[in-house]
Amino acid sequence: MMLNQKDLLGIQLLSADEIRLVLDTAETMKHVISASSKKTAHLQGKSVITLFYENSTRTRLSFELAAKYMGAASANVSASSSSVNKGESLIDTVRTIDQMGTDLLIMRHPQSGAPHLIASRVRASVINAGDGMNEHPTQALLDLFTMRARKGGLAGLQVAIVGDVMHSRVARSNLWALIKMGATVRLAAPGTLLPPGLDSLGAIVCPTVADAVRGADVVMGLRIQLERMQKALFPSVSEYARFYAVDESMLQLARKDAIIMHPGPCNHGIEMPTLVYDSDQSVIQEQVTNGVAVRMAIMFLLSSRRNV
Ligand code: CP
Repeated sequence: MMLNQKDLLGIQLLSADEIRLVLDTAETMKHVISASSKKTAHLQGKSVITLFYENSTRTRLSFELAAKYMGAASANVSASSSSVNKGESLIDTVRTIDQMGTDLLIMRHPQSGAPHLIASRVRASVINAGDGMNEHPTQALLDLFTMRARKGGLAGLQVAIVGDVMHSRVARSNLWALIKMGATVRLAAPGTLLPPGLDSLGAIVCPTVADAVRGADVVMGLRIQLERMQKALFPSVSEYARFYAVDESMLQLARKDAIIMHPGPCNHGIEMPTLVYDSDQSVIQEQVTNGVAVRMAIMFLLSSRRNV
């Protein structure tokens, strides 16, 4: 089986079978990360460019390492030190990168839909590494990979997602993915951080964090994205933490074997206390490792498709 499309722009466009294919391929790739010699030839002779218009630690580095582990030629274009700073447009920038024989173009951009705009203009396969408030498909895939590894499956899982849902491309991609795979998603956030229509996508919107986490198999905190807020959407950070932090009292309500997740970066003490972030139930560090395996899988699958 292969991926059906040239690009990975969002979870919305993937079928459940394609999601399963990515997760199964990532299982194989994970062995490479723990091997003493991290070298495969899956991307031998291919070129990978990361183009980031927003800051990143995990996503950018995991794509770069994944490309190197698989033998690709790779380079990073940082918007702040490129000709973007001289006013070059997005289209001209990606066409320039494409003309250098790029096979895989990984892009993060603050505008929702930017990867969709460029995908039809370049020969390279475009991978969305986060576009505005829209989607972060590779984050959702690594989250599902982590849940499946810990819980043995995804169908029937009860997943609570808590925090700034409004601005979270992670929440949106996870929602699409989890519903496709048969999980139940419960959301909790201040009313001002909940976009309308989430129930029509299949989510259960809860009035309190307690309602969302009660009986959950997975509890996922979200970062407050102050940089995307034009005005204050809650009275104060300390009040937000009081009502919306995933703290120990909330964890008591989840299943005893519930796992704690966070896409990172985390504001300790606001989204969750350090005690919860570092608890035995936390799989946050595992998410980081799994991010490399999942990105290896995605680049390999898109690159294989280019070869046929
Ligand atoms: N989760 C995530 O996208 O983290 P970075 O912003 O560090 O890439």
